[in-house]
Amino acid sequence: MSDEAEYKMPSDPAQLQAFTRIDTYVKPYDMDETQKFYNSWAKTYDDDYKAIPYHAHSILVNTLSSLISEEQRKSENFRILDLASGTGNCGVTLREHGFSCTIDGIEANEAMNVQAVQKNIYRNLMVHVVTPDTHIPAEGCRYDAIICTGGFSRTHIQADCIKDVVRILLKIGGFFWFSVRNTKLACDYNKSVEAVLAELQSTGSIEVILKKPFDYYSYNIEQHGSTEKVAVPGLERCIRKLK
Ligand SMILES: C[S@@+](CC[C@H](N)C(=O)[O-])C[C@H]1O[C@@H](n2cnc3c(N)ncnc32)[C@H](O)[C@@H]1O
Repeated sequence: MSDEAEYKMPSDPAQLQAFTRIDTYVKPYDMDETQKFYNSWAKTYDDDYKAIPYHAHSILVNTLSSLISEEQRKSENFRILDLASGTGNCGVTLREHGFSCTIDGIEANEAMNVQAVQKNIYRNLMVHVVTPDTHIPAEGCRYDAIICTGGFSRTHIQADCIKDVVRILLKIGGFFWFSVRNTKLACDYNKSVEAVLAELQSTGSIEVILKKPFDYYSYNIEQHGSTEKVAVPGLERCIRKLK
């Protein structure tokens, strides 16, 4: 089964082309294939995301704004890490909504990272592939908030990596917010996320403060003279580190 079977593809030709790329799956955790895929997409990635209404960034900003004070948002000493920062679109949305604090990024693909560098938003952008077996480049810096849109998935960053992200990179009291697709195809992956979070909760390391469905992408399709809204289901989660 593919995700495609779960929802109809856009009928508008430009949206269809963009969404076909957005909806392409690489082999799970195959970094050779993943790097080739993003190497070829990096320069046009932002155009595709302009063609398809994508809601994860606005959902992220709404949730962070409810958790982080205005003073913190504007403080250089308040540090956010954008994991799988891609071309830097989380950074763009955060800046547009008054987050003038320090933002760093970790991203696996050099070509995507070049696009993010050009946006001149991030303090440090590190190229690094996050896996359960690689050492995360923390450089002695822990973050007040870590965010990730589109990085934790059944093809990209494994659920088990949440443990190191929280342990190594997050300050006590800090928030880790991430969004995942909530499709049938993502079901097993989302179960593995649940298992990792349950383990961290059972040791008192974290509390889960938010788990909420949202429309990840949405678009209209025209069929037989009528318009239908299609939404690809997503899930936002936020946890807080307790110890
Ligand atoms: C769908 S893009 C999302 C980019 C960005 N967060 C956004 O919202 O536009 C997924 C990104 O995850 C990166 N990625 C994939 N696997 C990764 C890994 N194991 N570690 C770090 N980044 C990874 C890819 O290179 C790509 O830039």
